[in-house]
Order: sequence, then C-alpha cells, then structure tokens
Amino acid sequence: MKRRIFSGIQPTGKLHIGNYLGAIKNWIDLQDDYDCIWGIVDFHSMTVPYDHEGMSSRVLDCAATYLAAGLDPEKCELMIQSRVKEHTELTWILNTVTPISWLERVPTYKDKSKRFSDNVNMGLMDYPVLMAADIILYKAEAVPVGEDQLPHLELTREIVRRFNSTFGDTFPEPKEIVSEGALVRGLDGQAKMSKSLNNCIYIDETPEDIWKKLSTAVTDPQRVRKTDPGDPKVCNIFSLHQLFSSKEDIGYCEHGCKTAGIGCIECKKILAENIAKELAPIREKKTELLHNVDYIKDVLNSGIKYSKKIASKTIEEVYQKIGTTYPFLK
Ligand code: TRP
Repeated sequence: MKRRIFSGIQPTGKLHIGNYLGAIKNWIDLQDDYDCIWGIVDFHSMTVPYDHEGMSSRVLDCAATYLAAGLDPEKCELMIQSRVKEHTELTWILNTVTPISWLERVPTYKDKSKRFSDNVNMGLMDYPVLMAADIILYKAEAVPVGEDQLPHLELTREIVRRFNSTFGDTFPEPKEIVSEGALVRGLDGQAKMSKSLNNCIYIDETPEDIWKKLSTAVTDPQRVRKTDPGDPKVCNIFSLHQLFSSKEDIGYCEHGCKTAGIGCIECKKILAENIAKELAPIREKKTELLHNVDYIKDVLNSGIKYSKKIASKTIEEVYQKIGTTYPFLK
C-alpha cells in the first residue's frame, strides 16, 4: 500500500510559475510513489474578498492547468474541496478542540487580517483548521507544501494531538515535504510571487508576454549601467535562471554578470526564452484540454468519488469517537 499525501491550491486566479515550481512540479515527482490527492480548495479562497461569479471558471482553469502541467489522473486523484462535504464537517469538529489563541498567532492570519482589515471574518481565522481537516480527513501521512505553509502544518499536528488525546488515537501527525524552489519571488524581486501582488508570470503566459514582464523586472539594484559588474546572488532574475535554465546558460549569465560581460537585457532574454520553452507545451495542452471540458469533468468526478469514499469512512470513525452515532436511531 502506498502512503497517502494531500495538498491543495486555492483557485484565486490563474496559476503562476510560483505555483508551478513551488507545488505542481513537485506533485508530479511524487505521483508515482504515493497515493496522492490534489485538491482545488475553493472554500479556502472565500476567506478574503473574491469574485463569486468567476469561481467556476477559476476552478476549471485550475484543473486544466494541473492536468496540462503533467498531473496524471491514472496516477493521482484531483478533487474539489467543496464537493466533499466531510471537509467542512470535520472542520466544525476540529474547531471544538482548537483554542482561539492558537489561531490568533498564525502568521498568515496576522498578515491577512491587516491586509483585509475591513473583512476579518471567522473563516479567515478558521482557515488553518479547514486546512487541517483537508489533510487528516484522508489520514495523509505527508503534505508537500512551500515553506510559508509550515506554521499551518505545525498547527495541524497540534490539533491532531489534541484530538487524539481527547478522543483516542484517530489521526496520524502529518509530516511536511518541503518543495524545492518553493520560494519564488515575484518580478518585483521582493515578496513571494502572488496574484494579489501583481508580480507574477502565469503558467499559460505567451512568449511575448513573458518577455514583456521580464523586461521590466527588478535585477541587482546596485547594477545601474551595463558596464557595472553585477551580483547574481542578489538578482532575482538569476534565481529564476536557476529554476528554468540549463547549466550552460546559468554559467554564462553568472560569469557575464559578474564581469559586466553581458547586460541585464541579454540575461533576461535568455531567461525569457527558457521559461517560454518550458511553459509552451503546458500552454498548448491546457488550450486543448479546455476544448474538452467533458474530460476534465470526468477526471474531477472520479477524484471526488475516490475522496468521498475515504472521507465518509473517516467521518464515521470520528462520529464513533466523539459520541455522535446515536444507536437509538438505527
Ligand atoms: N494553505 C495552502 C496554500 O495557500 C492551500 C491549502 C489548503 C493546502 N488546504 C491544504 C495545502 C491542505 C496543503 C494541504 O498554499
């Protein structure tokens, strides 16, 4: 029996290369060795203001991107969180063993409650509990995540310990599998790449748009003229080279930058080409898939069915543990 893992991405917009490198690419590497469930976590994406009319097309786009990037429905399951109702049911139950003080100190809560200060809703605070439910509903042993999600995973383990000690051993404590290349900075060279900060390259971006975006992206801020030598270590373009370029191109750009042999424009052109080369087949596949929505529908329905089977079994066990089976009704 393969060990199970779960992870998810919020359908907040089109997926970008940060999602690709930080999550999906690693998921592809894991799909051979684990029993994988990959979620589109739509209920999480409601915790900050969002466009409800666009939800359906964002979820479809997300599923098409998963498949186009190389997640293989023969090897893994793709599902939509809200379609397996046990996620929210388990969240409620876990809420009752989660002290509010644990949630108040979660970094993403502190950050988002400042950024969206006119809508600090219960869901925003409860976000990590829903995430814990996503994971332990399937008794996942491990969770591939980016580094920014580690506090959430630690909290999941705390919730598991609290639940197990209150009601008896039920859930395993999930481990993290930290994605390499997980911290992709945005084109501003500052914050993590994210749609809301408008600093990303989307997975389905055309070569022209990739170049347009890269051409204004921040490089080594100390390097003002082409004749100044630069420092690749502090250049975000160089860190992207390390994720997309061949050893030869990386060596060429590193040396050229340090010796002022090449300018930032040339360095960016090489990067733009390499990114475009890697993304082109994904973009083409995605367009093809979006012409075949029935196929995507079948993949999701089968993933949802698979997930429901496990989820309902877990909830049944949880009911036993928490005392809500009510034999007198049978
Ligand atoms: N919080 C995760 C993120 O924003 C998304 C997520 C929701 C998730 N549920 C999960 C990740 C369960 C892993 C496992 O990236």
